[in-house]
Amino acid sequence: MMQVTAIVLAAGKGERLELKVSKPLFKINHQPILIYSLKALSDHPLIADIIVVANASNRVKIIAQIKKARIGKIKAVVLGGRRRQDSVINGLKAISSKARFVLIHDAARPFINKKILSLVINKAVACGAAIPGVPVKATIKEVGSKVVVAKTLDRSRLWEIQTPQVFSKDLLLKAYKKFGNSVVTDDASLVEKSGRRVAVVMGSYHNIKITTAEDLVLAEAIAKQKLKKCLI
Ligand code: CTP
Ligand code: MG
Repeated sequence: MMQVTAIVLAAGKGERLELKVSKPLFKINHQPILIYSLKALSDHPLIADIIVVANASNRVKIIAQIKKARIGKIKAVVLGGRRRQDSVINGLKAISSKARFVLIHDAARPFINKKILSLVINKAVACGAAIPGVPVKATIKEVGSKVVVAKTLDRSRLWEIQTPQVFSKDLLLKAYKKFGNSVVTDDASLVEKSGRRVAVVMGSYHNIKITTAEDLVLAEAIAKQKLKKCLI
């Protein structure tokens, strides 16, 4: 049985959300954002253990919420770093030598489910690296420094990429060692820089990242609808 360790990132500052409470602890439909994805991960048969990456101001409260929700499989709650990728590195330091695959997930994406987890994990086991995404619905243009259109991208080839992203542990460690200092916004970017193929699986339009206040309105609605359908 292959071992998958999940690293859940909750060490950010949540600056764009402009809340008093830490983003992962903010409640959507009475449950902290972070607890949604932790439940889905700990309930999944292919996840062996979970490492949560917190920061100095939310760590104690995160541990308390994990206890309150009785989440299983939590191996450690470690401290993150300045950039997202520094937090990933701290999470990677805590994984067991037995782990063969690493799943990296943003706590800011509460609405993952068993289907998406199975799909991305199985694809990574087959290919070494897999990430979920959805075809872009909007027209995307590159806008130049003078706020004029530089070019219009071909939408038929554009996908919006999400987490959880899953990698063979060796592959990911090598990518972080070699390219961990370059500025990126996801983990797959580092694996791509290593010249390795990254498979894309169908994510979900419900798998939103909570970034700004507008997202909270949508998140409440998704949480309520999913609760009705027993999907989370
Ligand atoms: N994250 C992290 N460590 C960092 C930065 C981000 O663990 N140094 C985590 C966040 O907690 C979040 C995820 O990475 O779950 C995605 O980041 P983002 O949505 O940008 O969240 P924040 O960085 O917290 O928000 P902001 O950029 O608005 O400050
Ligand atoms: Mg951020």
